[in-house]
Formats: sequence, structure tokens, C-alpha cells
Amino acid sequence: MIRARITGTGSYLPEKVLTNFDIEKFLDTSDEWIRTRTGISERRIAADDENTSDLATKASERALEMAGVRPEELDLIVMGTITGDYPWPATACVVQVNLGAVNSGAYDVSAACSGFIYALSAAADRIQAGNAKKILVIGAEILTRICDWKDRNTCILFGDGAGAVVLEAVEGENGVLSTHLHADGSQLELLYQPGFSTKIVLSVEAIERKEQYLKMEGNEVFKVAVRSMTEAGKEALAANNMTSADVSLFVPHQANLRILEAVAKRLKLMDERTYINVDRFGNTSGATIPIALDEANRAGRIKEGDILLFDAFGGGFTWASALVRW
Ligand code: COA
Repeated sequence: MIRARITGTGSYLPEKVLTNFDIEKFLDTSDEWIRTRTGISERRIAADDENTSDLATKASERALEMAGVRPEELDLIVMGTITGDYPWPATACVVQVNLGAVNSGAYDVSAACSGFIYALSAAADRIQAGNAKKILVIGAEILTRICDWKDRNTCILFGDGAGAVVLEAVEGENGVLSTHLHADGSQLELLYQPGFSTKIVLSVEAIERKEQYLKMEGNEVFKVAVRSMTEAGKEALAANNMTSADVSLFVPHQANLRILEAVAKRLKLMDERTYINVDRFGNTSGATIPIALDEANRAGRIKEGDILLFDAFGGGFTWASALVRW
């Protein structure tokens, strides 16, 4: 049996740190409010001359180096992002040229915070079908550029960053065991960016209405996120005849500490197996899972044969899970 195995991980976080205390200086909020409601203490902000492709390229170089794979060996680059460099073409194409991945196809996946698992799913399926041998899967975002820094309900939650993994075709039992993808577009306006594209086109009036910024109904999103991530996590375990006792590392989307603790509790993973870094980076959407995975990997927290559960929820709504044997 051919499986898609993760042979390298990498991440990149911009240098600039924005703490809750920094935000207190220009917004009617407090470190105490942000920490108790979200668990976030600080987040990273991309430099003015850094684009999403730059973050993605740095994370990818680190993943390729760990895997010992040269860029020209890649068959495909799949990138989860909702804050690409341009409306189109795909930011994966910018990364492709930056890396010199001259033999690779490249496309973006738009599934918001579920973007990395959606991208991983597409890549793993392609490898298992025998259509590719080496694929780079990326999650990268500069969310702070689509936040309204006058809206205390949203801007405090988000940050910038990128993570990447190299997937390789291997014989055996190690690799991506399953992926499950879900969506419900009926409530998309609870979490979305209205402009600018073909529905709400760029105009002075639309800018005055602040249509360019991310919008969110936090309370509603919270409830759906907990329910959906719990279901997706259980689905992944059931599909592989496993229970939470089999899981060595749970890497949930780092939306907010209260959401991920509620999910971990429901999945009986509320212990040191649940990886948490939302306190340092906030919600980097499609980038949270590969960043957390890379941190855990480089800290020596993962060993061969370990079972890893990835679980995410985001705008769309979309939600997804993946089970991986390391
Ligand atoms: N600082 C201080 N007060 C704030 C604030 C801030 N940054 N943001 C909101 N408030 C205020 C609100 O205005 C409200 O005041 P009011 O009662 O006078 O109207 C009060 O705090 C409570 O707001 P509420 O929205 O009920 O708070 P909450 O406990 O639901 O927490 C979120 C708000 C956004 C932290 C929470 O709903 C949440 O985490 N939602 C999920 C968001 C998310 O993770 N999205 C991404 C999913 S991928």
C-alpha cells in the first residue's frame, strides 16, 4: 500500500511581536480581557515588505531541508490560504518560482482555517492514487492585513505566520491514514471577508462600509466550532477503529484556547497530548496546524509510529480532520 508520509516540517513566524499590552495602547481593550476570553497573549505581525508568499517560502525551505528533498523534485505545491499575495493567480505559483520548483504544479486551496487539512487531503489522495511522489503542502497567512484594527471584537484574535510539510510516497503503514472534509455554506456571513471581488466590487462607498475587512459573529462561531471540531475528531478516530487512547499528539486549529480546550475535553484529550501555542501566535488560520506540528516535531515530541490527530474549523463554514501515523 502506498501512503503519503510527512518527511519534513517547517515554519516561519515574522519577527515583530504585538502583545496585548501593545494593543491596549490604541484600542478599548485589556490584556486581562483578551487572555481570559481567548488565551492569547501575543501574536506576530508581518513586516511591511513581507508578503504571504515570503512567509510560505521560508517555511517551505525549512521543511524541504528536513526532508532532504530538492525543490526540483517536487511534483506539486498545494497551499491553504485566504490571504494570498493577489486575488489571483495562486500564491502557490509565487512560492513555486521562489523555491525553484521547476517541475511542480501549484495551486491554492480556499478553506479558511481548515485550509491546511483540505490541502493535505488533496495532496495525500494524489500520492495514494499514484499520481505524485513528492508534494509540498503549505498553510500561510497574513491575516493582520484584512483585520479592522478599530474593531476590538475581531482584530485581537489574529496573527501572521506559515507552516509547511513535505509529503512523500512510501510503501507501508506510516503516513496519512484518513482525511475527512465538511462544509456548510448556509451561514457563511458569520465569518467572512465581504470584499473585494465580483459580488462586492471595489468602490469608495464599499471602502467606507469597511467591506474589505474580516467580519465575524464571535458567539455563534464559537458554538459551531466546538461542535464541528468535536464531530470531525470523533469521525477520524472511528474511521480507523481507534479511540483517543491511541492518540499521541492532538494538533487542533489554534483559534482560541477556550475552543480548543472544549474540543479536547469532549475528545478525552484534555492533557499534555494536546498541543497549544495560541497564546504566542493567536489564530493564523490555515497556518496554525503546520506551525504547531513543526514546533512539536522540532521539540522532539513526535516519534515514529505515533498517531497524530489534526482537527480544524473555519470560514465557509468548513471543518476537517486528518489522522496520521508518523
Ligand atoms: N476587549 C474588551 N471588550 C470586548 C472585546 C475586547 N477585545 N471584544 C468584545 N468585547 C466586549 C463586547 O463588546 C461585549 O460588550 P457588551 O456586553 O457591552 O456588548 C462583551 O465584551 C462580551 O462580548 P461577547 O462577544 O459576548 O464575548 P465572548 O465571551 O463571546 O468573547 C470572542 C468574544 C470573540 C472572544 C468569542 O466569542 C470567541 O472566541 N469566538 C470565536 C471566535 C473565533 O475563534 N473565530 C475563528 C474561528 S476559526
